[in-house]
Amino acid sequence: MTAPSRSLRMLDVSAGYGATDIIHTVNLTASAGLITTIAGPNGAGKSTLMKTLAGLLRPRQGSIWIGEQEITALPPPRRAAAGLGYVPQERNVFRNLSVDENLRIGFEFIHRSSGGGEFAAARGRVLDLFPDIAARPKALAGTLSGGQRQMLALGCALIAGPSILLLDEPSAGLSPLYVTSMLDAVAAVNLSGVTVVMIEQNVIEAVRISHEAVLLAGGEIKGRWPANEFLSDPHVRSSFLGGIASKPGLREAVSNDASAA
Ligand SMILES: Nc1ncnc2c1ncn2[C@@H]1O[C@H](COP(=O)(O)OP(=O)(O)OP(=O)(O)O)[C@@H](O)[C@H]1O
Ligand SMILES: [Mg+2]
Repeated sequence: MTAPSRSLRMLDVSAGYGATDIIHTVNLTASAGLITTIAGPNGAGKSTLMKTLAGLLRPRQGSIWIGEQEITALPPPRRAAAGLGYVPQERNVFRNLSVDENLRIGFEFIHRSSGGGEFAAARGRVLDLFPDIAARPKALAGTLSGGQRQMLALGCALIAGPSILLLDEPSAGLSPLYVTSMLDAVAAVNLSGVTVVMIEQNVIEAVRISHEAVLLAGGEIKGRWPANEFLSDPHVRSSFLGGIASKPGLREAVSNDASAA
């Protein structure tokens, strides 16, 4: 990427479903060129916040900005055209289509009129990141492993050339090895200048690659930390340890992390 990195901001945003607000007066800045992780308990409203950024939910109040451009009223395709890529938590590929067909849809969503050469170049750049799926271009997405499907979903967002990427639990359900390689791929994408906003339950791995971390609980932002200080903060630990403790090995890892800090 040669274009300058761009920030994403939410100002005083409340949003939800029907008459019920799930996120309340959220102020959030994802700084240009950085990885910001949003963490919080199940049901905190993380995916709701992400859907609001992507334009799938209209805020009841507040505004959303890419750099100096207000995007609050833009529908999802126009946000995508403005450079916002989004990988949802679920149903993020077409399982009955091949790897290549999924990538082509991701590309043509933004670059409708461009020629085959541009698709081939973009496809090559994306598949360089994911050797596992590069080896299986004709495979139906539904026949890939969970990890490979997540890589394809990320590839479909990347192939459009976003300047900001929204990732809702990119490592959910993956084996530890895939968690690491998925987050390494996210770090590589960020190094090319893409601003990343990521929700992650694998918080230890997430903070490894992130610059900033935000805690969302009960639909409210509870604070923001440099990523490497996040898990040693007592406030984060008390809001969070219940969920972390249910995952084998993680409680110990957090304790070690905190005592080392
Ligand atoms: N489509 C919907 N219609 C009505 N309520 C919803 C809808 N989607 C989510 N909710 C509610 O909004 C609240 C927050 O859900 P959300 O999916 O944003 O949480 P989350 O933090 O992403 O949780 P998780 O960690 O489990 O993914 C929950 O109470 C949920 O039941
Ligand atoms: Mg969620």
